[in-house]
Amino acid sequence: MRLRRHHRLGPLWHGSTSPLVLALGTALLAGTASAGVPEQVTNIFKPLSTPAELVSEVAWLALAVCAGIFLVVGGLLAYTTVRFRRRAQDDGAEPPQIYGSNQLELAWTVIPILIVLVLVLVTARTIADVQNRPAPPDALHVTVVGHQWWWEVRYPALGLVTANELHVPVSTTSRRQLTFLRLESADVAHSFWVPQLAGKTDLIPNRVNRMWIEPTQVGTSLGNCAEYCGTQHARMLLRVIVHEPDDFARWVAAQQQPAVAEAQVHAGRDVFFATSCVNCHTISGTTAQGKFGPDLTHLMSRDTLAAGTAPNTPATLRAWVRDPQTLKEGALMPNMQLSDTELDQIVAYLLTLK
Ligand code: CUA
Repeated sequence: MRLRRHHRLGPLWHGSTSPLVLALGTALLAGTASAGVPEQVTNIFKPLSTPAELVSEVAWLALAVCAGIFLVVGGLLAYTTVRFRRRAQDDGAEPPQIYGSNQLELAWTVIPILIVLVLVLVTARTIADVQNRPAPPDALHVTVVGHQWWWEVRYPALGLVTANELHVPVSTTSRRQLTFLRLESADVAHSFWVPQLAGKTDLIPNRVNRMWIEPTQVGTSLGNCAEYCGTQHARMLLRVIVHEPDDFARWVAAQQQPAVAEAQVHAGRDVFFATSCVNCHTISGTTAQGKFGPDLTHLMSRDTLAAGTAPNTPATLRAWVRDPQTLKEGALMPNMQLSDTELDQIVAYLLTLK
């Protein structure tokens, strides 16, 4: 199974790292990032999915047109500045004033209209192409629900639920594989944005939006919520993990397993089921069926905690359960006031949920 932990994101976990260090780290990482190791800041100029490629083609066209306009306008400005500059032998008289040149006025009206028309038509064609793409019969259907501040990811046909990670199969020329997303919100407006895979689409309460992705490269793409949704909007991160078809099938099979019940962690399980954890979290095959927080059945199969706030390690898990507010202030998971013993027991239990 390709579910490796990636802790290359180190600097992101520490709020004290300066933006300069982050930028330098990003520049270094951008050159070394390979499949499986997400880049710190996703590169919008490196699309890895069909909708993102279509969007990027329009972006490059608009950039080329603007660059052409810049060169013409800037070039003419530079030329006239030099060619018609004040000279020593000038007599200081006002040059001839010209009003109402039909050719000039037509030129600077018609040319911009044509440019805008081309950009509008090309953009409209791309939008229609992306939005109206019908789902092929073998498409994977996933429901993504935005919550304050995490992502619920449901695979209705496969009967599995996870959080903050979207696992999908890769699409190849011999076997195209599209993933269609049904986007909903449990509370306020959020926005699903994984720049290298597709454009942004909002998740609106009481409304269903749809989008699709077709990743063409195995690896991890990072995304985030792109619509301000409350204090921890910035810590509502998302990762899309693209697998080879066999790896994806293995991931599905593992996630479909009910939660393990190891005898040696019964004390932690008892603490978990005796507190209000069960009101918010689901652990499949148990009485914990809460829907307010993330499904914990396979908690330890995920890379991060608290929607990308911290890497998912025993130490961060313990800190998170002890007091979520120190890691993610405002998070809707309360401090359960557990004793150190209870904390150790509950964490030992959670660590078995692989
Ligand atoms: Cu969810 Cu911003």
